[in-house]
Amino acid sequence: MDNRPIGFFDSGLGGLTCVPYLMEALPNERIIYFGDTARTPYGSKGISTIRNFSMQIADFLINENVKMIVIACNTVSSTCLDELQQKYPQIPIIGIIEPTAKVTAETCNEQDHIGVMGTKVTIKSKAYEKLIYNLNPKLNLYSTPSPALVPLIEEGIIQNEIMDLSIKYYLDHFISYNKINTLILGCTHYPLIRKNIGKIYSGLRIINPSAEIIQSIIAELKAKDIFSDEPVFDNTFYASDLSENFVNMINRIFENSGFKVVFKSFDLETPQMRC
Ligand code: DGL
Repeated sequence: MDNRPIGFFDSGLGGLTCVPYLMEALPNERIIYFGDTARTPYGSKGISTIRNFSMQIADFLINENVKMIVIACNTVSSTCLDELQQKYPQIPIIGIIEPTAKVTAETCNEQDHIGVMGTKVTIKSKAYEKLIYNLNPKLNLYSTPSPALVPLIEEGIIQNEIMDLSIKYYLDHFISYNKINTLILGCTHYPLIRKNIGKIYSGLRIINPSAEIIQSIIAELKAKDIFSDEPVFDNTFYASDLSENFVNMINRIFENSGFKVVFKSFDLETPQMRC
């Protein structure tokens, strides 16, 4: 048993899309979340910048005494997972791409045309292709970057025409030309526009990594025998810039949950609490 919290992080509010799945599957696990809202998006930045930001956040979460770190970000998982695991061997660190690749390989066949949408960095890394082809080289994979979607989501521009037009801009040709029937939402922000995508492309099967990562978390907690056995009353959410959207999104997730949510702002550049 280990009653310390699990640390989650993302470039912004996208990683919050993993949280309801965790709350449902593991109600005893406490969360400390870090959203790097002041420096989002990561997906168009250089890999060494993303690596430095991720290591700062991992240092911060380890200082907060977490028992595990969940990289709730495809961009970081696709580029820095190995480095983070090597730098912090004392703590389990879980990426989001491996569990998604596993589910994709298990549930798709050669007739499927599988699309991956993600940030520029994630798509360029070919992390999904490498892991999925490794499990089943006969699958048909196609990928496309869709970089403007994350800033729109961070701004809360979700259920409206601008978002629908942006989705169509990136996906219309991609889906029809490649005859995509299965789409991996390769960025943790995208589950927030899942309804828009489902409405525009009805019949498309959608694979959601924010849901799939929970199986890896459970497997790791089980392997290390570090489940928590204490009820949770509060969860803490840090942001490098405590934006209104970040706070609203969390309030929406925890509405009626009975949890106390603690918001804190943390400046990673000059490590001082600004709470
Ligand atoms: N939510 C992130 C991901 O899964 C990062 C998006 C970004 O910051 O560009 O890739």
